[in-house]
Amino acid sequence: MRDTGHEGNSAAIKAEDFHGSGQQSPPRKPAGPAKLSRKLRAILSLDDLEPAARRHLPRPLFGYIVGGSEDNASRTDNRAVFKEYGFVPRVLTDVSKRSQAATLFGKTYAAPFGIAPMGISALMAYRGDLVLARAAAEASIPMIMSGSSLTRLEEVAEAAPETWFQAYLPGEPPRIEALVDRVARAGFETLLLTVDTAVLASRENNVRTGFSTPLRPSLRLAYDGAIRPNWLVNTFARTLLRHGMPHFENSYAERGAPIVAQNITRDLGLRDHLNWEHLKQIRAQWKGKLIVKGILAPEDARIAREQGVDGIIVSNHGGRQLDGAISGLRQLPGIVAESGGIPVMFDGGIRRGTDVLKAVALGADFVFVGRPFLYAAAIGGQDGVQHAINLLATEIDQDMGLMGINSLKEMGPDKLYRRSPAS
Ligand SMILES: Cc1cc2nc3c(=O)[nH]c(=O)nc-3n(C[C@H](O)[C@H](O)[C@H](O)COP(=O)(O)O)c2cc1C
Repeated sequence: MRDTGHEGNSAAIKAEDFHGSGQQSPPRKPAGPAKLSRKLRAILSLDDLEPAARRHLPRPLFGYIVGGSEDNASRTDNRAVFKEYGFVPRVLTDVSKRSQAATLFGKTYAAPFGIAPMGISALMAYRGDLVLARAAAEASIPMIMSGSSLTRLEEVAEAAPETWFQAYLPGEPPRIEALVDRVARAGFETLLLTVDTAVLASRENNVRTGFSTPLRPSLRLAYDGAIRPNWLVNTFARTLLRHGMPHFENSYAERGAPIVAQNITRDLGLRDHLNWEHLKQIRAQWKGKLIVKGILAPEDARIAREQGVDGIIVSNHGGRQLDGAISGLRQLPGIVAESGGIPVMFDGGIRRGTDVLKAVALGADFVFVGRPFLYAAAIGGQDGVQHAINLLATEIDQDMGLMGINSLKEMGPDKLYRRSPAS
């Protein structure tokens, strides 16, 4: 049986051990939950989460998570590109001291990956944003809270102060100033600006499954919910009873639209006005770490760096924005060359430890994973997310050993070979 490392693995650690002093050998990876439910025991890899979530979530909600835009060309390529690379492992190197710990902005995380920002998580999982943030904090990895979220950012900052905040901002200076001020007052230290959403993409799959924000009440929506009783009772009804109808809480300084409404439309503001001048404004106002997410062109990486951002995330938004946008993995080396030494992070399609190692070899300082963690939160709450973190960290640990390396710094282009895309 495969060792998922959740029990009896002496190399597994809890966050407090990770930060504790006097540790002799470096920790290998974050620990999973103490005890796994039967449902979670059946999840052996991140890819197992998707069918489980399909069975658990109402069709429009699952469709919203899984889908890309238009023909899913970018989403598909985000996975395919990893298969274009293979490994050149080294042997007989003594890998007993291996550690996947990764340092970013002066903080050492237990693993080189974090949780990407995902909107409306609290509709997919009960208290979804908090569940993701707490699981990440427990595992000592970063979690990025989405600006399109249904939990007040202040509540997440209080529960998990290390969480990062991601903003979608319109090209409207007063609204930018008010939100940035609110995020700072809440105590966040890291702010991310997502820049690949100047206009909404065409996601026909959402129309086909009946998904929209806000969701429109209909017989079909009621039916889709009714045939997912576990979600209906334990996520939706529980949320309504305990916290009332969820609203978009963090798009701006003030509360936005409810998640279910007949006639209300979401105020997305002048997002298509957003430009580098607004980034300058944010940089001048925000004293913490500032990261730009959604860079694909080396030239944009250079401009961002020159404007004083602290890091960039190379991303095509999980293939959910411009369909056909190049996979970030293909752009990593070119972007790293223009980054002038600021941290370059990457997301899109990571599902395996080997994917993480490939991205690191191509120059990523850190990576983020989206969909699988939201599926994990939906089907298993905080335990589900911790289990998913542990699965990926366990794979990285194994893969490092098999690659013949003790530290991620050893993962360079010499450890990869490129297959021809057609093979
Ligand atoms: C359901 C869902 C919601 C998302 N919401 C946001 C968001 O609010 N802000 C953002 O910057 N990116 C958002 N993204 C993109 C992710 O942050 C990330 O770039 C992408 O999911 C990475 O690809 P992966 O899912 O293949 O790992 C979302 C992605 C998904 C799947």
